[in-house]
Amino acid sequence: MPDGRVPLISGNWKMNLDHFEALRNLQKLAWLLPKDVYERVDVSLHPPFTDIRTLQTSIEADRMDVLLGAQHCHHEVSGAYTGEVSPAFLAKLDVKLVICGHSERRELFGENDEIVNAKVKAILAHKMTPILCVGETLAEREAGETEAKVLGQVAAGIAGAKKDQVASMVIAYEPIWAIGTGKTATAQDAQDVCGAIRRAVAASTDASTAGSIRIQYGGSVKAGTTAELMAQPDVDGALVGGASLDPDEFAQIVKIAAGASS
Ligand code: 13P
Repeated sequence: MPDGRVPLISGNWKMNLDHFEALRNLQKLAWLLPKDVYERVDVSLHPPFTDIRTLQTSIEADRMDVLLGAQHCHHEVSGAYTGEVSPAFLAKLDVKLVICGHSERRELFGENDEIVNAKVKAILAHKMTPILCVGETLAEREAGETEAKVLGQVAAGIAGAKKDQVASMVIAYEPIWAIGTGKTATAQDAQDVCGAIRRAVAASTDASTAGSIRIQYGGSVKAGTTAELMAQPDVDGALVGGASLDPDEFAQIVKIAAGASS
């Protein structure tokens, strides 16, 4: 985590916590995190859609510095897309960051690179920040295809975006074999891939754009693994699944990340 980039710790709650539970988690987090922590780290929460309005009103009423996030959206603004949610609706709810291309969406809901790219553009068009997720399977890692897979997903994901838009983005490197498995990539593995992502973005844009994007690591991140990950020069934060459901553990992760940037 070098100077200049503010770390970003994001909690992806996936399909967990109804709006009552979500509110309780938010309030506990507000109590656990001192106000000044937000001067050194950005924190975003990505609850299910049905919780977003509840969290928005609470964040607003309590003037919390937590950034509201979403896990997904459609790339069209409106129309006959039963069950889908428009990026415009999220922007109206003060959502700041939207995860797209999560491996679970790619694998379980058939989202390919082309769809993910359309979502990236739609999210940017609505002045929100995409968190573009990329990552390899275990078979791809073992076949030595990690960089080819990840860099291919990055190139496809940011295709057609302007340099200043790319500079504002977040890329989350989430090795699929480390998600929900308790297996974390070593800090060095995370650095190797995050460094390769930054170099590839530099090659396709320029050094200053690549120096501005934030690259998160995700995959079984816990408080105990955060410091070492955050010490890597190209790891600018974490996208946290399971551990973000526990406010105590998540607050610890945030505080460690804040310490790493001071
Ligand atoms: P876990 O932290 O539960 O492995 O989930 C990672 C993830 O998929 C975050 O988007």
